[in-house]
Amino acid sequence: MRIVRAKDYQDMSEKAAHMIAEQIRRKPDCVLGLATGSTPQGIYEKLAEWYCAGELDFARVTTVNLDEYRGLDRGNVHSYYHYMKEKLFSRVNIRQDRTFVPDGMEQDSGRACREYDGIIAAVGGVDLQLLGLGHNGHIGFNEPGTDFETQTHCVELTESTVKANRRFFSSIEEVPGQAYTMGIGTIMQAAGIVMAVSGEDKAEILKTAVCGPVTTMVPASVLQLHRNVTVIADEAALSLVGNAGQAL
Ligand code: GLP
Repeated sequence: MRIVRAKDYQDMSEKAAHMIAEQIRRKPDCVLGLATGSTPQGIYEKLAEWYCAGELDFARVTTVNLDEYRGLDRGNVHSYYHYMKEKLFSRVNIRQDRTFVPDGMEQDSGRACREYDGIIAAVGGVDLQLLGLGHNGHIGFNEPGTDFETQTHCVELTESTVKANRRFFSSIEEVPGQAYTMGIGTIMQAAGIVMAVSGEDKAEILKTAVCGPVTTMVPASVLQLHRNVTVIADEAALSLVGNAGQAL
């Protein structure tokens, strides 16, 4: 696991965006695994900026997102599909039919998950997967206790995740209690992984995930077992990790 120390959120965003841009330049028809939440917003901002400046071309890129709330349709402003459209897809020249997000409106969860795994297989797997880190160590929506082998599945969100995501909704009742997410097994199949982490509130869990034992109780700790993982985190998030890491 490579740890890249960034100065602050801005610097973290730029460094992570550079890795994604490099992936696209190296393999223009690559498959990117994408994440939502607050953390990647600055990364998408940078990528859109570089596209506008003519420095990046998404014409042949395919994307598969980590997760989606169950019960929200694509037009819902709280859906992750809407988030992706607003933050990235509508701002770059990616083909809409090459952007995949689990279908939150598929009521049959078995079918929704099977179909999503089918899509990931059909596009040839993920070249570079972007991840954020939940306060309880979750990646995607894989909550503590999730088996490391899981593929895409339907999850009951924990109270802490519902509370953490409440800030995007007008009331806690509106936060869906379930989601479809790539499993830990799905995430681990990516050829490369970059996890972006920012802020003092993530310091404790980041230390546990990268320095602690590998355990299903801390889903992100599984990344210690992957052979191509880069953690890009700012000073605040790395404050408990000591001096590990190098400048990019
Ligand atoms: C959410 C998402 C994750 C995300 C995480 C952290 O629940 N499902 O994919 O990485 O929580 O979010 P944030 O970056 O807003 O802290």
